[in-house]
Amino acid sequence: MNITKVVDNTYKLSVNLEDMLFEGLWEIPNGVSLNSYIIKGEKTAIIDGVCGWDGVPESLFKLLDELDIELKSIEYLIINHMEPDHSGWIEDFRKIHPDFKVVCSQESADLLEAFYDHTDNIMVVKDNNTLDLGNGHVLEFVKIPNVHWPDTIATFDRLTGTLFSCDAFGSFGKTGENSFDDMLNQEEIDFFEKEALRYYSNIVASFSLPVKKAIEKASTLPIKIIAPGHGIVWRKNPKKIIDDYIRYANYQKGPAKEKISIIWGSMYGMTEMAVKEVAKILENEGMEYDMYQVPEASWGTLLASVWESTGVILAMPTYEYKMFPPMAAALEEIAKKKAFGKKAFRLGSYGWSGGAQRELDDLVNRCKLNWDFIEPVEFKGSPKDEDLQRIEEQVLKLIEEVKKAVNA
Ligand SMILES: Cc1cc2nc3c(=O)[nH]c(=O)nc-3n(C[C@H](O)[C@H](O)[C@H](O)COP(=O)(O)O)c2cc1C
Ligand SMILES: [Fe+2]
Ligand SMILES: [Fe+2]
Repeated sequence: MNITKVVDNTYKLSVNLEDMLFEGLWEIPNGVSLNSYIIKGEKTAIIDGVCGWDGVPESLFKLLDELDIELKSIEYLIINHMEPDHSGWIEDFRKIHPDFKVVCSQESADLLEAFYDHTDNIMVVKDNNTLDLGNGHVLEFVKIPNVHWPDTIATFDRLTGTLFSCDAFGSFGKTGENSFDDMLNQEEIDFFEKEALRYYSNIVASFSLPVKKAIEKASTLPIKIIAPGHGIVWRKNPKKIIDDYIRYANYQKGPAKEKISIIWGSMYGMTEMAVKEVAKILENEGMEYDMYQVPEASWGTLLASVWESTGVILAMPTYEYKMFPPMAAALEEIAKKKAFGKKAFRLGSYGWSGGAQRELDDLVNRCKLNWDFIEPVEFKGSPKDEDLQRIEEQVLKLIEEVKKAVNA
C-alpha cells in the first residue's frame, strides 16, 4: 500500500492487486490498483477505503500514522459505491473505530445492510447534497447510477475541483509512486490508456448509456482533477480520460477504430489454414488487426479488442452440429457487454453436415447484436484454392465496409 498527496489536504491510499481474477472472472495481467482518498478539512473524511485482499486494513492504519491522522479522527466514510472492492474493509474498520458516519446513497445504504448488516450511523445523501468538512472543503455528491452498480455516486470537492469518480474513469494496471498523469511519460500514459480500455470493456461496457449520462452530468462541474477508484489520477489533463471514456462509450454503436478483430478456433488446423491467409490479406492491405484464438485467449483482452474494432472476423469449425463451443461462449460474453453494430464476416471448416453457421445466426438474432455480416465462407475439410479466393474477396469487402463505417 502506498500513500501520495493529490492536492492540498487530499491524499491517495492505494493498494495493488495481482495474481487474482478481478470480479472472480477477469484476468489482470498487469494488476489493478484500488484507490482510496482522504480529505482533511476541520473534519476528516475517507472515500472508498481500501485494504489488502485479506480484508484486514492494517496497512491502512500504518499509513494513517504516517499522515499523522488518528484513526479515530476520521469522522466520515464516504461510500461512492458498495461493490466490495471498495467497501470490503468496513467491518474491520468498525471493530477498531465504531463511531464514524457512513455517507452514501439510499441504494448503498440498502446494500450495506444486505452485505454487512450495517445499519447505524448512516447519512444518506441525495443528488447534489453537500457536506462541509470545514477549511473550505465542501463536498458535493452526484448520483451516477449504474456506473457500475445502481447505487453509485461521485464525490466532488468544490475547493480543489477534485472529482472522486469511483469506477468511472478507472483503469486496470497497477500503480506505483508515480500514479499521477503529470508524472508519467507518453509510453506510460499509453499503457494506462490500453488498461483503461480493457477495464472499460470488461467492467463497465454494458453500462455505456449510464456512462454517457454520468459524463454529461459531470461536465457541469468545474473539474480540475479526476481521482478514480482504480488506476492513475488525472491532474494535468483530466480531459484526456473523459474524452477516452466518451470514445469508449460511443464505440458501443459499432463504428470504432479502423481495425479488425479476428477471433478464431480450430481443432485440427483446417480453419487455421484459412485464418493464416486472412491475416496475410489484412497485413497486405495495411489494416490494423488483432488475432485471438479461443479458448486460449483471455476473454478480457479479446473483449477489449472487439470493443475498439469496427470489424470482426469469426473463424471456427462446426462441432457437433453447432459452433466450436469456445466461440459460442466468447460470443455470448461479447453480447452481454453489448458490443453492437460491428461489421462482420465468418468463415470455417466442416466435415459432413455443417451447423456452426445456423447456431451463429441464431445467437446473433437472439442477442440482438445487430452485426452486419457479409456472406460467410464455409468449406469442407481443408480450404481449397477457390475457398481461399472467395475468402480473400470477402475480407477485402469487409475492409471496405469497415472503412466506410469509420469515415461515415
Ligand atoms: C468433436 C467433433 C465434432 C464434429 N461435429 C461435426 C458436425 O456436427 N458436423 C460437421 O459437419 N462436422 C463436424 N465435425 C467435423 C469438423 O467440423 C471438421 O473436421 C473440420 O474440418 C474441423 O476444422 P478444424 O480443423 O479447423 O477444427 C466435428 C469434428 C469433431 C472433432
Ligand atoms: Fe464496481
Ligand atoms: Fe471498482
